[in-house]
Amino acid sequence: MAESMFVLEENVFVKTILSSYNVLVHILLGMIVGISLLFAVKLDYNATSVPEDIILLHILLCVPGYTLIMTQSIMSMTHYNTWSSSLSIANKRRVHWILQVIGSGFGLTGSIIIMVYKDVNFNTLHGQFGLVTLIFTIISMINGVTSLLSHRLRRFIPPILSKITHIVLGIVAYASASACLCYAFNKTMFKLWTSDSVALGVISITGIFTLMVLINPLVNLCKKFIKLIKTRLEK
Ligand code: HEM
Repeated sequence: MAESMFVLEENVFVKTILSSYNVLVHILLGMIVGISLLFAVKLDYNATSVPEDIILLHILLCVPGYTLIMTQSIMSMTHYNTWSSSLSIANKRRVHWILQVIGSGFGLTGSIIIMVYKDVNFNTLHGQFGLVTLIFTIISMINGVTSLLSHRLRRFIPPILSKITHIVLGIVAYASASACLCYAFNKTMFKLWTSDSVALGVISITGIFTLMVLINPLVNLCKKFIKLIKTRLEK
């Protein structure tokens, strides 16, 4: 099985498809981040109760943190990712956790800043998904450390189990950040700047690239589950 997968990924046709897929994800990601940042710097949000410079800071931290850097962090672990494909497994892991710490730091700061300035918290779906993202990002970071040290901690928790929980927590955090972003694009302030149909297009693109990014972690999760079941059955 492992041998046939290896041959499949070495196939020139398959490599071309996977690389094109990766380029497409980067293009869609660039579009979404670019549109969000353009919206942010226009500084005229048809204001809410939150000061405009706080909304600016919020977007400038959350979108690069949760969307741009976290996507790169997840993609860095895939075989066919443009900039990381020639790195060794050890260096891919290093890049992954460094990007994860930077992205989470940006995202958490951006969320906390706006939460502090709002009079009533979590009264919008955007805010509620933002809170879910914040909680899962923190748990996922703690679990990431146990996953990184899984071999040293194997007396307390089986390595495969801490890897599985890390993938699940990471998928939930990333998916909820994307849902939060979709609700941001659904805000009246964004639709007034663009239009209903542009907002719908941007939301669809966000959904598409989120699924495209999550396919690899989902496949890895299935592989780890199968491995876990096999080892349990062998005992
Ligand atoms: C992945 C990116 C984002 C995350 C994780 C995020 C997260 C959050 C969080 C946690 C809050 C505080 C909610 C509360 O205390 O009730 C919030 C509020 C807010 N965010 Fe974002 N945000 C993101 C992107 C954006 C973008 C792109 C915009 C602009 C279109 C935006 C505009 C706002 C506004 C106006 C508020 C205050 C009103 C409300 O709570 O809905 N956010 N966000």
